[in-house]
Order: sequence, then structure tokens, then C-alpha cells
Amino acid sequence: MILTKEEEARVARAVEVLERGGLVAFPTETVYGLGADADNEEAVGKVFAAKHRPTWHPLIVHLPSAESISWWADPVPELAGVLAEKFWPGPLTMVVPRAARCGAWVTGGQASVGLRCPSHRLGHALFEAFSGPRHRGVVGPSANSFGRISPTTAQHVIDDLGLKPFGQVDMVLDGGACTVGVESTIINLASPEPELLRFGAITREMLEEAIGRPVRNPTPKSPKVSGQLKSHYAPRTPVTLADADEIPELISKEPGTPCAVLAPREVLGKCPSNAVCRIEAPEKEPEYAASLYANLHALDAAGAERIFIARPPRGSAWAAVNDRLGRASAPRSPLK
Ligand code: TXA
Ligand code: MG
Repeated sequence: MILTKEEEARVARAVEVLERGGLVAFPTETVYGLGADADNEEAVGKVFAAKHRPTWHPLIVHLPSAESISWWADPVPELAGVLAEKFWPGPLTMVVPRAARCGAWVTGGQASVGLRCPSHRLGHALFEAFSGPRHRGVVGPSANSFGRISPTTAQHVIDDLGLKPFGQVDMVLDGGACTVGVESTIINLASPEPELLRFGAITREMLEEAIGRPVRNPTPKSPKVSGQLKSHYAPRTPVTLADADEIPELISKEPGTPCAVLAPREVLGKCPSNAVCRIEAPEKEPEYAASLYANLHALDAAGAERIFIARPPRGSAWAAVNDRLGRASAPRSPLK
């Protein structure tokens, strides 16, 4: 990957921050991550503290290539090699049995670890520069406070977690807006049969085609994924998901209540004047997903009391978007 001199210098500075046990927010193609040296227990502890994330929620480890898998997984599942070959670098996290090297502080005490190799050029350059002969990895949950909307720009990270000395993060490696926009697909390869733990840009069909066998839904015995909490990825303003043609009427039933709307253009045109913020929903899934979190941030910042979102199409390609919208609109429960 070819970097400019200026990018090289920023990556080198980010490596230094990680080496001294600091926190670097880094770009990936999905969302920004909050990075720390996975081998450094104290540094990883700062990630949990910065996010207010319960320490039993496992973190994933970011690696520069499939060559590092055997340094973190033991045994390495055969399917991990097949999937890495096909989808890495890219938006796929594989949960595999963890090697002794991988500390319990990363995995929340679980016997497995999530491994991911993002394709973003600057993020990737950081993992490559940091890795070294011991194949060091970078833990990286999404760089948002627990339960809140994931960041897809450097500014989102700064607005939520903040930069030191006032905020939590030592450095944000700005790599522009994330192109995929929703978190990676997670497949569990540490279970007897492969399981889909989180929907993302790599669909179940793509995974099944690559490995030539079914990828089933998680069972009650499967490990918990924090993104599986019902209310997650949530704006502060209450969100209602509704069929597009019902939205103008729903808003007119709340006269005097400022509302924010994400819907197709023709629906926006029919909304009454208390729709104070109107964002046009992209028609195609890749654009919809790429702008989803920035749109949720904007709807939430509009000063509205209610958010209305037109339900997007169904179907496998939209599974990740529908999953995140379902969580954003779920009734709020205390996040545990
Ligand atoms: O796209 C992404 O995956 C982003 C970027 C930054 O790489 N990262 C991300 O991390 O979304 P996080 O921590 O917000 O979500 C990772 C999910 C969590 O819900 C966690 O519970 C689950 O992966 N997870 C991690 N390790 C696991 C394990 N050993 N078993 C089951 N689930 C695991
Ligand atoms: Mg997250």
C-alpha cells in the first residue's frame, strides 16, 4: 500500500502511541475503531474504560494479514484459512479458538477470540507497521461510547469520546469517511458448526458459497455479541421505524412536535411542517449503509423530539441495515 510522506508520518506516530500503551482511533472500511496494543493489559483496560464498556464484552483483534492468524488462534480452524483467502482484507471478523498468547483481558474470559483484517488503506498500514516479528495485534471495538451510534468519520469520534487532555483518545488517525459504514460481519468458527453472529456487508450467502456449507443462526449456547443487545447503535432521540407511505400521517398526528425524518424523496415532500429535519434515504444498499450512521448522527443532532425512518427493502443485501435500524428503534432498556 502506497502512502504519502504525511500519511507515513501519521502512521508512525500512531504506532508510537500504541507502543506506549495509549489509545489510537483508527479508520476501517466499516467504522472507526478504538485501538490499543492487544498484548498490553493496562492499555486494553483503558479501551473498556473510555467506552464505558463492561469488561466481559470481548474485543476483536485487528491483524495485517492472514499470516498472523496462527499467532492468535489455536487450533486454527480450516475454514479460517478459506475465508481469509476469500474475504481478507475486508469486512469479516472470524471468531476462532484463542491461542495462549491472547490475554483474557481481550476476550472477556472467553475461550475464543474475534480476528479481523480491515481493508482501509490507512488502518491497514497501521496494523502492518505495528505488527512486527511477534505479529502484534490491535484491539478495536467501534470508537463510540457503549450502546451509542458507531462513528464513520474522525469527527464522530472526537464528538463522542474526545481527544486528550479533555477526552479519552490520544490520537485519531483520520482516514476520511468509512465506505462500508456498518460493522463487519461476524462468523463463529469456534462452534461445532459455523454461525452468523452479526450481519454485515459480507452476507450469509457469500459465506455459504465460499465454504460450501450452511452458516446457521446463533443458538442460546453461542457467545454473546454486544451488538446483539436489542437496544444498541441508538440515537438519544426515540426512533420509530415505519412503512414509507405511513410516515407523513404519523408526523401530522404529532402537531407541534419537531420531527426528523429519513425517507425516500417523494415521502419527504409529503411531510408536514413539523418535520424540521429531512434526510433523503439513498435507494441503493451500499450508499444507504455507507451513510447510515452519519444520517443517524444528523437526525439525532437536529433538535427533534422524534425520529421517523422509512423501513428499507427486505432481502439479504439489506440484512445488516435492517438489523441496525431494528436496534436503533428498539425500546430502550438499561444497557448491561
Ligand atoms: O467492523 C468492525 O468489526 C469494527 C471495526 C472497528 O473493526 N469493530 C467492531 O467492534 O464493531 P465491536 O467491539 O464494537 O464489535 C465486535 C463484536 C462485539 O459485539 C463482541 O461482543 C463480538 O464482536 N465479539 C468479539 N469477540 C468475540 C468472541 N470471542 N466471541 C463472540 N463474540 C465476540
Ligand atoms: Mg460496537
